[in-house]
Parts: sequence; C-alpha cells; structure tokens
Amino acid sequence: MDVSNKTVLLVGATGGIGAAIAKQLDQRNAYVLLVGRSEQALHALGASLQHQHSLIQADINSVEGRQQIVEQCQRQAIDIYINAAGVMDFQLFSQQDSDRLQQMINTNLLSPMLLCQLLLPLLTQKSSAAIVNIGSTFGSIGHPGFAVYCASKFGLRGFTEALQRELASTGVQVLYLAPRATRTDLNSSAVNQLNEALGNSSDSPEHVALAVISALKGNRRQQFMGWPEKLFVRLNGLCPNLVHGALVKKLPIIFRYANKNSE
Ligand SMILES: NC(=O)c1ccc[n+]([C@@H]2O[C@H](COP(=O)([O-])OP(=O)(O)OC[C@H]3O[C@@H](n4cnc5c(N)ncnc54)[C@H](OP(=O)(O)O)[C@@H]3O)[C@@H](O)[C@H]2O)c1
Repeated sequence: MDVSNKTVLLVGATGGIGAAIAKQLDQRNAYVLLVGRSEQALHALGASLQHQHSLIQADINSVEGRQQIVEQCQRQAIDIYINAAGVMDFQLFSQQDSDRLQQMINTNLLSPMLLCQLLLPLLTQKSSAAIVNIGSTFGSIGHPGFAVYCASKFGLRGFTEALQRELASTGVQVLYLAPRATRTDLNSSAVNQLNEALGNSSDSPEHVALAVISALKGNRRQQFMGWPEKLFVRLNGLCPNLVHGALVKKLPIIFRYANKNSE
C-alpha cells in the first residue's frame, strides 16, 4: 500500500522510531493521528510536521485510552494502523519487578491486540487497509536478560501471523516488521553498553521508518532487519541448539551488564 494521502493511526508516535515514521508519513502527505502519553512530546512532534495531523494523548493500557483512540479513528476513517509503542527492561528474570513485567506484556502485546480488535470493524470496511506491528529480533530469538520482553514480542509475532491468515480474504494487509537494536531511548545505557560489548550493530530510527514505508508498499508480511540478525532468526528456527550455545557462551558479559542495570 502506498501511504501517500492515507489516514494513519500511529501509536507510539512520540518514540524514537514512531517520530521517524511520523516524519516519513508527513513527507508523503499522509494525515497522521499521533498517539502518545506525553502532551508535551506530542506537541513538539506535531510542530515538526508540515501537514495537518491530530494529537491523541492516551494510554493504550487503559480502557478509556483505547476508547478515545477508537472514537477519533471513527471520525477520521483511518486506512492504516501502525503499532510502534513499546517498553523494555533489561533484567535477569529472577530480579524482574512484577509491575514492570505486567507493563511490558500489557504495552507490547495485550493492549495492541485489544486496540486492534476495536479497530478491525473500521479497517475491514475499507477496500484496502493495513495493520503494521513493530516487533523485534527478540520476537524470534529468546535472549538472556530480556525474558519478558522476548515473551511479549514472540506473542506479537504469533498474533500478527495468525491475523494475517485470518484476514487473508479481506482487503486488510497485516505486517510484522522486526528491527534489530535501534538508537532510541528505549535502550538504557546498560543495554547500549551490552550491545557494544557483544559487538551488536544498531540502526537509526530513520532507517527503520523507511523500512516500514517500503514494507507497506511491497506488502511484506514479515520482515527482519539487519545482518547478521536476520540470519540468526532463521538459524534459531532451524537449529536452535547452535544459537543456544552461542548465547550461553556470552552469559558472563550479559550477567555483568544486567547486574550493572539493577544497581
Ligand atoms: N529501539 C530499539 O532498539 C528497538 C529494537 C527492536 C524493536 N523495537 C520496538 O520498536 C517500537 C518503538 O520503540 P522505540 O525504540 O521507538 O521506543 P521509545 O523511543 O522508547 O518509544 C516508545 C513509544 O511507546 C509509547 N508508549 C509506551 N507506553 C505507552 C502506553 N502505555 N500508551 C501509549 N503509548 C505508549 C511512548 O510514548 P510516551 O512514553 O510518550 O507515552 C513512545 O512513543 C517498540 O515496539 C520497540 O519494542 C525497538
């Protein structure tokens, strides 16, 4: 789907990746409904756009927040829903705070599904519409130190794949884009240090935003970003023992930075 002149709901618009997607959509004359919890961040983002847009200050984890988003989408008749909201904790599971555990599952998985269910009647009445879920490499590779985040992103990938198939006879395309490490505030300094120590490369949010635009254009149902990350995703599916062995060897480094993160 070409995003030009489309009406797009962008959840997580104030984030690093979300803001970069908002700018790409704006450059293509799309009308964007920007969703985030911070009024200040929404206004700052809105001021950086050239075209008309709407700001929706809402928490997707609340019933009222989701209802507010849906009511606005009914008024604007959206064509595309992009879910770029997310939270992440780098923590050994034994030390994971239970409130943060629930927040990760809610924000990254449960609330996007509940919101998607409310939006479906609007999207299916269009001859052509799209849903894009931003996943992660960690939605295909269980990585020590990120057990709950991985669980949420594995869930989001499974949800997206099932929905793709369930909606195959409708005009709604359902896409899953999995970035690798991306330079945004999602990553704490311990995560950035871990990535450096492990030799993991990272992408700019602009690179991810362009991938979203081209995934929509090419109707790419599932896309993994970065090399060698996309190879590891395939390898983990085919020979998980190989990836298991490689990651277990890195445990001392992972433990060092996880402990630093919880100091
Ligand atoms: N950065 C990476 O390394 C990386 C790698 C792979 C995948 N991803 C995924 O890419 C997506 C975007 O991440 P990012 O790097 O842009 O993160 P980010 O900069 O931390 O932005 C997160 C966004 O989510 C929004 N958000 C969080 N909780 C929310 C809630 N309850 N209700 C509404 N909005 C909420 C935040 O808005 P407010 O805080 O203003 O509400 C913000 O707009 C996430 O799904 C993330 O898992 C990121």
